Amino acid sequence: MSLAELIRERRSIRKCNSTPVDQELVVELLRKAIRLQPFVESGSWRVVYAGTPEARKRLVDCMLEQMSQSKLGKLIPGKLLDVFKKRFTDIPAHVIVMSTVGPNRLTNDRNYAAACGVMQSFQLLGWERGLGMLWDTESMIQHEGFFNGIGLCEDERFVGILHIGYYDKAPRSRKRTPAEQKWTVLRGQST
Ligand SMILES: Cc1cc2nc3c(=O)[nH]c(=O)nc-3n(C[C@H](O)[C@H](O)[C@H](O)COP(=O)(O)O)c2cc1C
Repeated sequence: MSLAELIRERRSIRKCNSTPVDQELVVELLRKAIRLQPFVESGSWRVVYAGTPEARKRLVDCMLEQMSQSKLGKLIPGKLLDVFKKRFTDIPAHVIVMSTVGPNRLTNDRNYAAACGVMQSFQLLGWERGLGMLWDTESMIQHEGFFNGIGLCEDERFVGILHIGYYDKAPRSRKRTPAEQKWTVLRGQST
């Protein structure tokens, strides 16, 4: 598959099957993704990995902690919450990415952007090997309980989780905004 095809054909996978994901493969893909991001300074981002059933349960518990304790969450029937929990716990692997908060906004933005670049390359490299992923930044998971649970340090920013698994069927593509609609040509001033 050419790179252009890979970019075009990769889809977010919201339903994966139970085939286990090899931790070694995840590390290999991360290593390759970093190589595609030559300007990433070491220390500007890091990853927390959850791959065992116990780790996945711990992760999902802290993801859903706020929701299950909120007024709204308490209205959700326990069974429904369990179904929701199971859906996430059954996902074979999760890569949680955090970037370093620098001394100024520019450094923060660069570190965050670098981490996002690595995540996208990682998704593409994974797709090439039959792995599907969902990049998760839902507001529902962005709370102190979750940040503590994943061990986010004071000088770190949560970037996103990639939920990873093999899939049976890729969904259809969503419509893209044509690049021309995001295009402005800056003209020189006539004198
Ligand atoms: C920065 C970023 C954050 C995202 N956060 C979420 C999210 O919180 N929940 C979700 O369902 N999808 C999330 N996605 C996945 C997008 O919704 C997905 O890319 C979009 O549906 C297009 O589908 P495709 O990846 O199959 O082309 C995120 C994607 C990116 C790049």
